Amino acid sequence: MDTKKDITTRADINHLIIEFYELVKQDNIIGFIFTDAVTINWDHHIPLIVDFWETILLDNPVYKKNAMEVHYELNKKIHLKKEYFSAWLLLFCATVDKLFEGKIAALAKTRAKSIAAVMEFKMAGPNKTMLG
Ligand code: HEM
Repeated sequence: MDTKKDITTRADINHLIIEFYELVKQDNIIGFIFTDAVTINWDHHIPLIVDFWETILLDNPVYKKNAMEVHYELNKKIHLKKEYFSAWLLLFCATVDKLFEGKIAALAKTRAKSIAAVMEFKMAGPNKTMLG
């Protein structure tokens, strides 16, 4: 029987993020952003994303940057529209469900949904300022 465990360590988050980006890069809707539109240094980027989720899910404040700001910059180059957020969220939740099960796994999905909703709203705003 395939029993899944919950997310409990940084290694778990790392596993989640690596699998997530494998799907993201192949996605018809948002893949191009990560493979063509932006040059991403993955060795730098993956640990940062893992820091971000470790801060949220394991209550260990290792992420010190401002994720919203990074997306404001990105949004100037490629408008991050509703359709992109839906695709991002679908892949994120599918990856969580594929690998994990439990309270923290559920929290990961809930937080991803709420952050994506706020981000989508801010990126769409008529006043796309960093304070907005
Ligand atoms: C339309 C959906 C999204 C797209 C296309 C997208 C794309 C990207 C890209 C291309 C980067 C890398 C920027 C760079 O290194 O130059 C990035 C960074 C990041 N993204 Fe997203 N993103 C999306 C949604 C989200 C959401 C919903 C979250 C959080 C729940 C998130 C969290 C992050 C974090 C933590 C970083 C690292 C920021 C840093 O450098 O500190 N992203 N994103």
